[in-house]
Amino acid sequence: MSESTRQILILGSGAREHSIADAILRFDSARRVVVAPGNGGISGAGLSSQPVDLANHAQVIELARSLAVELVIVGPEAPLCDGIVDSLEEAGFAVFGPSKAAARLEASKAFLKSFAARHRIPTAAFEIVTSFAEAEAAILRRGAPIVVKASGLCSGKGVVVATTVEEALAAAKSMLVDRIFGAAADEVVLEDCLPGTEASVFALSDGERFLVLPPFRDHKRLLDDDRGPNTGGMGVVGPVEELSAETLSRITSEIIEPTLAGMRKEGAPFRGVLFAGVMIDANGVPSLLEHNVRFGDPECEALMSLLEGDVLAALEGCATRSLNPDLLSIPQGRHAAVVILAAEGYPMNPRSGDLIQGLEQAERLGAKVFHAGTARNGEGLVTKGGRVLAVTACGSSREAARAVAYAAADVIQFRGKQLRRDIGAQ
Ligand SMILES: Nc1ncnc2c1ncn2[C@@H]1O[C@H](COP(=O)(O)OP(=O)(O)O)[C@@H](O)[C@H]1O
Ligand SMILES: [Mg+2]
Repeated sequence: MSESTRQILILGSGAREHSIADAILRFDSARRVVVAPGNGGISGAGLSSQPVDLANHAQVIELARSLAVELVIVGPEAPLCDGIVDSLEEAGFAVFGPSKAAARLEASKAFLKSFAARHRIPTAAFEIVTSFAEAEAAILRRGAPIVVKASGLCSGKGVVVATTVEEALAAAKSMLVDRIFGAAADEVVLEDCLPGTEASVFALSDGERFLVLPPFRDHKRLLDDDRGPNTGGMGVVGPVEELSAETLSRITSEIIEPTLAGMRKEGAPFRGVLFAGVMIDANGVPSLLEHNVRFGDPECEALMSLLEGDVLAALEGCATRSLNPDLLSIPQGRHAAVVILAAEGYPMNPRSGDLIQGLEQAERLGAKVFHAGTARNGEGLVTKGGRVLAVTACGSSREAARAVAYAAADVIQFRGKQLRRDIGAQ
């Protein structure tokens, strides 16, 4: 196959994966990208979805072989933590994403905290407990406020920032006695509550070289003014501007670099995208809250829309240990806004099967609509629960990007559509 018709396989099914595919095709429209399992709306010139069970590594390898793909890009954390990269690499494929051993940075908060301590990466003081008796003693000793964290993957639901001792004890009991998260809370991290503002910083790395991308800030709660239940993320506007160059450089030298060096030293070099959740105090001093080992969603949609350059070559460079950090840039003064449209009942009890209308009109307004929970139903597109669409727009200011994203979000219709009105509002 010639260089220009190389097939790329992206594993995942959300707007994140759609936006990566879009960035690859924007740079070179002759590419072929398959997203698996994808969803009803991920299709177009050079782009298609194919069903696959990501938990079935043999099936994923078979799909990669049948497509003769040159690079596999892994989107979500579950298959990464489950070792899909190791399986695909053993089968001879180049893969963007960390090995199972490197994915422990996200798979185990207990590992992350001990790792941070071993490598002197600034993070909240903590202890790790495995029984309620231990947790109770520690909580009574440490007092409130205190943060109670299930160690394993909990889809963003495993952390309680407790303002009272009673609340902390209840959280620890739900994890260690009632076992609401099952084995994901075999270990529980108790840590000091840090004041400050949060930011997400992404760094691409091939294990050694790295490229820090501009910071973003997600909106986790369902409703305006950060009310309502936590979600996978309801939108983002960025890059975040109020982080000083000095703070960003401290995040790089005190968190990103020592993480990559530490993983190398421990025999598990990190290749892929490191997504550091950071708390920055009033003096601009950063502390690591957590690492994720993949792009955030919806941050990815914003980043991919802004990036200029050969995204595919950069991701491939991470996979093949030859990252050229100069491949990508974000033009000065460009901003992106992402507004998530979620299904009725999300996140508790999302509805499916509602007809979606207005997508073409939305794109005519200048937005790009990435698909998450959508399915084909005959000629039409219907909701398939959860977060349905990520309406994304770029502009020369935050306001300009927001205005287009919201105008487009408003012309898209489906029954019970939920969105926040204050994404990126000052
Ligand atoms: N030590 C801490 N101090 C203050 N807030 C915290 C602390 N740890 C976590 N949080 C809050 O809880 C949220 C979720 O915690 P995090 O470690 O990012 O886990 P996850 O994203 O896996 O749920 C953070 O975004 C932050 O708002
Ligand atoms: Mg987090």
